[in-house]
Amino acid sequence: MCGIVAYIGSRQAKSILIEGLKRLEYRGYDSAGIALINDKLQCAKSAGRVRVLEDLIDQQDNLHGTLGIAHTRWATHGEPSDRNAHPHTDDIKQGHGIALIHNGIIENYVSLKKYLLERGHEFNSETDTEVLTHLIGELYDGDLEAAVQAALREVTGAYAIAVICEKEPDTLVVARKGSPLMVGVGKDEYIVASDSSAIVAHTTQAFTLDDYTVAKLTRNSFRTTTVDNVPITPQIRELEFGLEQIELGAFEHYMLKEISEQPNALRMCLKGRIDSREGQVVLGGIADYARELVRARRIVFLGQGTALHAAMVGEYLMEELARISTEVEFASEFRYRNPIVEEGTVVIAISQSGETADTLAALHEAKQRGALSLGAVNVVGSTIARETDTGVYLRVGPEIGVASTKAFLGHVAVCTLIALFIGRRRNLSRDYVSQLLAQLEALPDQIEIAVALSEEIREVTKKYIDRENWLFLGRGHNYPVALEGALKLKEISYIHAEGMPAAEMKHGPIALIDDGMPAVFVATQNSQYDKVLSNISEVKSRGGHVIAVATEGDTHIADLCDDVFYVPDVAEPLQPMLTVVPLQLLAYHAAVLRGKDVDKPRNLAKSVTVE
Ligand code: G6P
Repeated sequence: MCGIVAYIGSRQAKSILIEGLKRLEYRGYDSAGIALINDKLQCAKSAGRVRVLEDLIDQQDNLHGTLGIAHTRWATHGEPSDRNAHPHTDDIKQGHGIALIHNGIIENYVSLKKYLLERGHEFNSETDTEVLTHLIGELYDGDLEAAVQAALREVTGAYAIAVICEKEPDTLVVARKGSPLMVGVGKDEYIVASDSSAIVAHTTQAFTLDDYTVAKLTRNSFRTTTVDNVPITPQIRELEFGLEQIELGAFEHYMLKEISEQPNALRMCLKGRIDSREGQVVLGGIADYARELVRARRIVFLGQGTALHAAMVGEYLMEELARISTEVEFASEFRYRNPIVEEGTVVIAISQSGETADTLAALHEAKQRGALSLGAVNVVGSTIARETDTGVYLRVGPEIGVASTKAFLGHVAVCTLIALFIGRRRNLSRDYVSQLLAQLEALPDQIEIAVALSEEIREVTKKYIDRENWLFLGRGHNYPVALEGALKLKEISYIHAEGMPAAEMKHGPIALIDDGMPAVFVATQNSQYDKVLSNISEVKSRGGHVIAVATEGDTHIADLCDDVFYVPDVAEPLQPMLTVVPLQLLAYHAAVLRGKDVDKPRNLAKSVTVE
């Protein structure tokens, strides 16, 4: 949801900023722009991807300087166009040469714009961001930091911003409220970015800005304050991953890389967290809250998108293993329906990025109503990670592909661990938990087998590539997997797909089935296997084509279905981590076969930081 990057130091900023934009492009790719100061402020921006901007600036020889800002946009206010692209500048006629980039939404921009119009400002775009830039210009009196602080005291909404001013060629001012922003601390240089992927190539030292914090950076020093100019001291920390983890390497797409990384991602997630001899899960983060968790009366999972689907698996796990009444809520709905949060309610916010605005807002709501809050988050130090009472990191490594894959696995693995952590303290025997944990430790090798199905899945996908409507069906733990399979196909190949509980099909969607419609069933051996077989027959007898994900050695299912992908046999609660893999690969190959931009699907952004 918009990527921002800024540089101040002794090196030429242009290539550092463009490289940073490429790293952040997964956050939005409607337009891109750059501004540099070298005596004069120079700007270049255009609708489209970063590569379009690159072509544009190749034709301009005035873009130099060791201070600059750059932006890749996911449009909220104003269509994706050259003039709505960031950076925005203060008034061209009477401005101070101020340029600004922004991730977030200025909610009161209409009233601010009215005020500025009355003061004679002329606007060039339809964006809320330009209004903020003009406001800073209006308040500027020779001190950029003070003008930014003053302007931010007037705005409501969310922002991560970086601001430069022609009159102060040695100053970069950045600030944050509600949208992520991180400052990389190099030797006599600073790189500021929406996330660490644009920083790690330059330094491993960084600090995250807290909400309402403004940082003024010069080439060799910085200071951080609140918007009211009260000094604060940030904590500089070592970044948790290196450049090699965010490189594409030999893979054609991040999505395929991340699908393939899942065996190792699970190993990393489980490392040091399993004591199979004692039948215990070791989770340092939540150990201090063990008492409250064991006594919890109700668990509410919050999430959006893929994280929500993982939370739905979490619901099955929590009820089955920990025997605690559990619900899953779209974070976006929870907040606005006056939710009931009784004593003993624990909310678990599930989020890869830890920045999703809806999830964050729902978390605030639940906390305010007295719930204990846990985070199951991938990005270390992200807002949700910092604002929950406690939590468990996924530790699956950076996820760059917009379509989430290994984070789903990480979310489900963490839910499994939390459910066993609580369940073992409540009702589960040491033997049962030991057995399940031993199977969990063996799962990465089995996921490798599922990943190796890639070519086979590609060939099957080819057969159905012209079909425009697909169904994804599953029961029990595999019902959320069906939802996730449908979401993956929709978001990257733009094929219409619906996921649902296999039994629900009879209550309406069965009318959709016509000759040759593909229906993907998750039909592994488990307590609902026979029922799923009946549902398969219902589709077959109406002319649908059935593709099944089934358990190795199940020859019977091959007679019923058109195509089968076999995965190893694992215990029912662990199946979603395995059965999701063929569905991820199917969506991936469908998108490639249709010539779609797998890692940057249209209209989407990886991290949705607006409600
Ligand atoms: C966006 C992404 C999804 C993701 C969802 C939640 O919609 O495109 O892939 O599942 O946000 O993101 P989170 O970072 O909270 O897991």
